[in-house]
Order: sequence, then structure tokens, then C-alpha cells
Amino acid sequence: MKWLYRIESAARLADRVYEYWIHAPHVARHARAGQFLIVRLHEKGERIPLTISAARGDAVRVIFMTVGKTTEELATLQAGESIMDVAGPLGRPSEIDNYGTCCVVGGGVGIASTPLIAAELKRAGNHVIGIIGARSADLLILEDEMREICDELYITTDDGSRGVHGFASDVLKRLLEERTIDRVWIIGPAIMMKVTSAVTAPAGVKTYVSLNPIMVDGTGMCGSCRVSVGGETKFACVDGPEFDAHQVDFDNLMQRQRIYTSQEKTAFERFAE
Ligand code: FES
Repeated sequence: MKWLYRIESAARLADRVYEYWIHAPHVARHARAGQFLIVRLHEKGERIPLTISAARGDAVRVIFMTVGKTTEELATLQAGESIMDVAGPLGRPSEIDNYGTCCVVGGGVGIASTPLIAAELKRAGNHVIGIIGARSADLLILEDEMREICDELYITTDDGSRGVHGFASDVLKRLLEERTIDRVWIIGPAIMMKVTSAVTAPAGVKTYVSLNPIMVDGTGMCGSCRVSVGGETKFACVDGPEFDAHQVDFDNLMQRQRIYTSQEKTAFERFAE
């Protein structure tokens, strides 16, 4: 083993989606819902943020989609291999309390964050409703785990291949019409969080989203993770990553996420050669 952080297990969950358990006692022992870590694979690797999806004993679970050079490279590593740096847990934990009825919504690979949030809400005494959605059934992850944690679980797929044919926002809208929901968490692609949180705004339900801007250091030093919340500039890595959804400027977030698209494409092409 070359580096300190051993990969205990590596599995492919869906097309381009991988689940890794990494031996990282300092992260695993302190990890709370909503937090993330930053990994660097080797001396020449870039730093990338990954959401903490679960913690067990001395190991932490990350679930990621291959979207560029570093995630593609990470996905080539096997159980028994190792990575150089695992920094974390980073970011502020989710604001868990006993609110009453809470809904945790995950879209696509964003579902990775939902079990930890749902489990902590459940432990705090809430009635927890899960809604997990994906483009199609084969991209749906962690269904069994969420079913075990949540009091109720709803599934949606864009193409109708599993569960409700439609979007998580459709189910959430119906639930809000039928009953009182006290808090909502939404984790997924920026556009999905924008659309889904627009459903809770008219009902005045406090809603948290976990923002995923470009990050470099993850400690508030570089400014690359700037987001606009309530007209103020915040750093997602230290002020978030969770923010009040109804205050977030999602268009600004999506624009900033695209800043390095051409450089990322070049880096990936070089890696793939
Ligand atoms: Fe550098 Fe947040 S990632 S300030």
C-alpha cells in the first residue's frame, strides 16, 4: 500500500456511479450529516470535494459520478489500493432538530447524501419522508437503505421505468397539498434543486439545499466556491454547503459551475489518451 488511506471496498452502483468505503478514522469518527471531504489521489492530483454518504467504524463512504479526469481516475482504483489525502469532515453539519415531519429529497447521485441526513432526523424524533428520483430505474441508488431509514419512501423516474413517472418535485408538491411538512432537504443537480425548492417556497416551508460549486481548498482560503445567498457572497465550503434554498441564486451557481468546462475537457482528454 502506497498511501495512508486504504480503499476498503469499491463497487459500481450504476452507470458512471461508484461507491467506495475508505479507511479514514479521523473522518469517520466525526462525520455528521451534510458534511463533505476533500480527497487528493496522489502528489499530482487535484483536490476534489466528495459528500460523506455514510460512516461505519473507521471507514467513510463516498458515492460519486465520473464527471472528469479525477473522478475517472478514482474509479479505476480497486479495493486494497490507496489514496494520498482525505481531509475532513468539512463544512457545517445539517441543522438537525426535532421539527415534526421532514422530507429528504435526493436526485441522481445526490441521493448519496440522503441516508445520513434522514437517519439523523429520524434519531432526533422526526417523521421522515424520503423522495428519491433518477432519470431511469438503472440510475436509482440506495433505495433499500432509504426504505429502511425513512418512515415513507417515494420513488420517481423521469422515464417512468420505476415508481412515479415524473420528478421528485411532483411528489413533493402533492405531499405539501395533503399535509404539513415542517422542513425539507433537497440534494441533487443545481437545476433540480432550483426547480424542487420552488415548490416549497409558496408554502413557506424552510428548505435546505446542499450546494456543489467548484471547490479547491475546502477551508475558506481560495474563494472558488463563492455562492450568492440572500444577496450576500458566501463560501460554500465553510458557510455551507447547506443553505436556505429560497435565498440561493441558482443561476449564478450554474454559471460558475461551468467556468472551467473547457479546461476540464482538456484534462480529461489527456488522461484518457
Ligand atoms: Fe476554497 Fe471554499 S473551496 S474557499
